[in-house]
Amino acid sequence: MTALGPPLGLIVELTHRCPLQCAYCSNPLAMDAPKSELSTEQWLRVLDEAAAIGILQVHFSGGEPMARRDLRELIAHASNAGLYTNIITSGVLLSRSAMADLLAAGIDHVQLSFQDARSEEADHFSGYRGSHAKKLEAARRIRDAGLPLTANFVIHRQNIERIEEMIALGVALSAERIEIAHTQYYGWALLNRNALLPSRAQLEQVNQVVAAAQERLRGRVVIDYVVPDYYAARPKACMGGWGNRFINISPSGKALPCHAAETLPGFTFPSVRDHGLGAIWASSDAFTRFRGTDWMPAPCRGCDQREIDWGGCRCQALALAGDAARTDPACHRSADHHIMREAIDAAVDAPLALVPRRLQQG
Ligand code: SF4
Ligand code: FES
Repeated sequence: MTALGPPLGLIVELTHRCPLQCAYCSNPLAMDAPKSELSTEQWLRVLDEAAAIGILQVHFSGGEPMARRDLRELIAHASNAGLYTNIITSGVLLSRSAMADLLAAGIDHVQLSFQDARSEEADHFSGYRGSHAKKLEAARRIRDAGLPLTANFVIHRQNIERIEEMIALGVALSAERIEIAHTQYYGWALLNRNALLPSRAQLEQVNQVVAAAQERLRGRVVIDYVVPDYYAARPKACMGGWGNRFINISPSGKALPCHAAETLPGFTFPSVRDHGLGAIWASSDAFTRFRGTDWMPAPCRGCDQREIDWGGCRCQALALAGDAARTDPACHRSADHHIMREAIDAAVDAPLALVPRRLQQG
């Protein structure tokens, strides 16, 4: 491997608070309590450290990052430190004055999430009446402000049939980028997997619709789409590799190689309250244990894809195969690959009832 460079990006999960209750949320089941969140001063120090070690981008996330009253101050501080700033938001709190605050703070990019293309269905999946209308208004405010907009549609078995309408909505909102994101089965989404996992026929339909739209809209709108793990032959390079590209900070200040890492047993994740970001990145056990390829078991060891997908996702290996150090079951070469087929079979004809995300604090 080449010498370790700085992380590309810092993902700051400012809070787990959120007005929505999406059943596909990848936040942990036991969320950080509001009183455990880092203070403004602590976040400001983390942002300074990020710039000092050469991080280029900061993604303000959550929960709903706009639930933090100090968001404007944090974004302005990051921007003044030379960081590219992106906010990942549901948009329901993006009032006119909140938009003015984001602009004054120097926000560079907004990623806005949608639950569906239609109001009634979107409000049902978000558990928030009127949320879709607020999102449409938020999208208009973002574009009127001249900011680049990414429209993110999370798809699953219960909304996937409206994929054409979702792409049309993204185009109508003048999004520069449309993300069609299959649900990632972590946290609440894993709990609800049987009610969310699409069928093979649904997947084939969406693959065709997206490919046609990418062709039709080439040069006008970028459409990002990745085949979901459960139907893939090879896993995704989760987070671009463990400890390879990103540091994720939880609301209470734990530095994590990914948003779901707290599910992994046998780890003590360092807190930014006690440790500097540079040391966490370079030498903490949490970031070095699965970094690179030395940790890999067969069949990853010796595989020609090992520096492309980095063996897939550690959290998925734990959740599905019971061991974070195994090859991701999404890989067709994994001895555990049958688990994916069994999950698909188990979802056929499963009830559609969803457990909504709720803040039950850990
Ligand atoms: Fe990737 Fe490992 Fe599968 Fe090779 S064996 S494709 S490195 S997950
Ligand atoms: Fe943790 Fe993939 S979500 S490594």
